[in-house]
Amino acid sequence: MASTPTTATHVWPLGTTLSADGVLVLGGCDAQDLAREFGTPAYIVVEEDLRRRARRFLEAFAQRHADAEVHFASKAFPCTAVLRVFAQEGLACDVASGGELHLALAAGFDPARIHLHGNAKTEAELQAALDAGVADIVVDNLDELAVLERLVGAGRRQRILLRVAPGVSPDTHPHISTGGPNTKFGFNLHDARTAIARVEASDRLDLDGLHFHIGSQILDLEPFRAALEAVARLGTFRTINMGGGLGVPYTHEGSAPSIEDYVERKVDLVHEILGPGVRIADEPGRSLVATSTVTLYTVQSVKHNVSTWVGVDGGMSDNLRPMLYGARYEAVVVGRPLPDPTDPTVAHIAGKHCESSDVIVHDALLAEARPGDVIAVPMTGAYGHAMANTYNGQPRPPVVFVGDGRARVVVRRETYADLTSRDVANA
Ligand code: LLP
Repeated sequence: MASTPTTATHVWPLGTTLSADGVLVLGGCDAQDLAREFGTPAYIVVEEDLRRRARRFLEAFAQRHADAEVHFASKAFPCTAVLRVFAQEGLACDVASGGELHLALAAGFDPARIHLHGNAKTEAELQAALDAGVADIVVDNLDELAVLERLVGAGRRQRILLRVAPGVSPDTHPHISTGGPNTKFGFNLHDARTAIARVEASDRLDLDGLHFHIGSQILDLEPFRAALEAVARLGTFRTINMGGGLGVPYTHEGSAPSIEDYVERKVDLVHEILGPGVRIADEPGRSLVATSTVTLYTVQSVKHNVSTWVGVDGGMSDNLRPMLYGARYEAVVVGRPLPDPTDPTVAHIAGKHCESSDVIVHDALLAEARPGDVIAVPMTGAYGHAMANTYNGQPRPPVVFVGDGRARVVVRRETYADLTSRDVANA
């Protein structure tokens, strides 16, 4: 097929080419060949995209501040191979459960570079973190503080941060806004003072600093100022962790602050409000992984009623974001000429699940799709695999790393046997 490679827009992973006739090359691998070899749906991850973003975060901090630590918020893509890439690149790791701690340790993170989050940590999770020797535990509430003191025990010490809700709500979907006055996360400013006094009196806990995370998919960086100002009223400690939150553009019309803009804003705020001597920690999730991944599907049916419905072999089992947050994605039909923007076909890309909310892209501008065609949906690296599920008995997709024209499966496709593997015989 004749094709003129074009540089793909910012929604595609690093190095992607997409020609006018729809030939899509990811990490040097033809998307149609990937679909044939690994089946669909499949998450295709351009490894170099992950590495490049990790380096950009590290360099952006290093250029502006001597003492900074970048944690990957592992909830965004809790996959051992992805975590291993970030461990190799020198990131630290934020885990929000015992399971994420297990993954981070399996991926080779030094426990001294892991910290544990959670608004309802169990005793078992706290104990596992202590046993592993994690760097910090980010304490969320007074109940947890009491349990942790008991678990640490006499004669030992554990470093902690206190998670504070600064009472600031960024402009994002309410489901992913976390720092407002009525949030389930962290200490309000009043309780934070009580907690600071308790920790300072404790012979088992060392207060390293304060943490806040105001929300996710943040496109306007302004609210970080009000949040930091609120938290700064509690005092200045060795470390300030301003959470994650940098948003990404999910469609080619979208835009978001760059990694460098985001880092610069945060560092400048810390210098201005707390001074230059404070240690800065940050916890990006989405902005490290979203762009790395393209989900491939195969069209199973095309139907026309009031709209055109393109039914594919995945859906809300591999990407819950459109259904939970009304998130908007775009898509291409691989191997078909890209639609004329002045006369595109508008179609809904529907998932295969038994409910009407299961639409991956509403009003997608597509070439005319036929059964058997491969559809590629970019920007699915963040919270896709993370929130995948087996609704309708759908096995979860594999994760395939690509780079330099080679592909390797890092998580195999779930099987029907996996679906029954937890059944207890004769129950
Ligand atoms: N730190 C803490 C304490 C967090 O709760 C989160 C995300 C992050 C860091 C990373 O935030 P990011 O850089 O990814 O914005 N499932 C939702 C996102 C939930 C985010 C939860 N917390 C989605 O798909 O949009």
